[in-house]
Amino acid sequence: MRHYLSGFSNEQASEALPGMLPEGQNAPQRHPRGLYTEQISGTAFTAPRKDNRRSWLYRIRPSAAHPAYRRIDNGLMRSAPFEEAEPPPNRLRWAPLPFPETLADFIDGLVTIGGNGDAGLRSGIAAHVYCATKPMERRVFFNADGELLIVPQQGRVLLGTEFGEIEAAPGEIAVIPRGVKFRVGLLNGKACGYLCENYGELFRLPELGAIGANGLANPRDFLTPAAAYEERDERFEVIVKFAGNLWATEIDHSPLDVVAWHGNYAPYKYDLARFNTLGTISFDHPDPSIFTVLTAPSEIPGTANCDFVIFPPRWLVAEHTFRPPWFHRNVMNEFMGLVHGVYDAKTEGFVPGGMSLHNCMSAHGPDAMTYEKASTAELQPQKIENTLAFMFEARFPIRPTRFALETPALQRDYDACWRDLRKLFNG
Ligand SMILES: [Fe+2]
Repeated sequence: MRHYLSGFSNEQASEALPGMLPEGQNAPQRHPRGLYTEQISGTAFTAPRKDNRRSWLYRIRPSAAHPAYRRIDNGLMRSAPFEEAEPPPNRLRWAPLPFPETLADFIDGLVTIGGNGDAGLRSGIAAHVYCATKPMERRVFFNADGELLIVPQQGRVLLGTEFGEIEAAPGEIAVIPRGVKFRVGLLNGKACGYLCENYGELFRLPELGAIGANGLANPRDFLTPAAAYEERDERFEVIVKFAGNLWATEIDHSPLDVVAWHGNYAPYKYDLARFNTLGTISFDHPDPSIFTVLTAPSEIPGTANCDFVIFPPRWLVAEHTFRPPWFHRNVMNEFMGLVHGVYDAKTEGFVPGGMSLHNCMSAHGPDAMTYEKASTAELQPQKIENTLAFMFEARFPIRPTRFALETPALQRDYDACWRDLRKLFNG
């Protein structure tokens, strides 16, 4: 049985063997059991205490013991700034990408759909898809450009991280902080899902304002792995994404050799079924921001670099209200995916594993069929079940990659879903 520590970004401590965490200080002159002491900082040393994130790792070998990295092929992974294709103002939607025909691990099977900002300026995001048909074995990855929010869509993954193991299934998410090494094992033979690479401020829980002290995602439901280490003196490839490109080096041991750690900078997972969904109990449903699980702020108050938002199963009880998401145009930019089920604004075309992109001020909303149904339905309390859609809502337009604009998975007839919205005005 795997164990997790509970709580969001609070100071935590874990040791795989008793007596491995030094008492009373972070860095003793010599660790009593011969471990190296290493700090990983996810924020500047001088960040305000409420934002400051760092952890102390006690490990068999320090991370510094490695030869130079060399460039490797980026495959279909792309990074900010995104300049390889002109971003169209059109609404875009994609069918699920197929699994690769040859064996590919999490890194080999990474495909970037689009992104924004500038990784070097710590601003913006990228939206990727992973499609893996083999586990990462003696291969470990870390991302110096941002943190990774993993949204599994098919297949459970076993994330072996420096801080311990995280198992994540469809319906859950996992976040690997910038710089933390991990590998992706496959518990069902193959796996695919979505990734938000966040170049900006770290994801955190949104403020709750008038909601009060509880609701939406509760801090105690975020799970951090308990320390687990491996002592394997074999060749391992370490891959890093740095300044937009992939680099690799080889070392003679597993870098997942942290025997104990303490701090508040660590990977975590969250079961989206734990999300306490709130909504109207009178009329007119709130804006989708009511479904924010995590937010990565920008320097403008209330304008996120990226919000991670979900559309989970929930009761609809609003009276005399058009219940699906209404027609709208948004200064923010919306990348959506569907983990399973049917999304209530699009009953066809947007399928599990697929994606849509509605960039700044592109008009969208329910398709004609959904509008017809929802505007004439006799309203009763209704439970939307068996559905889990999500959105990366970003501050800057998401600029698609050339691959995303050229792939046969792009549904070139997407606009047609709004074609039959006929005139209803009767003067
Ligand atoms: Fe929208």
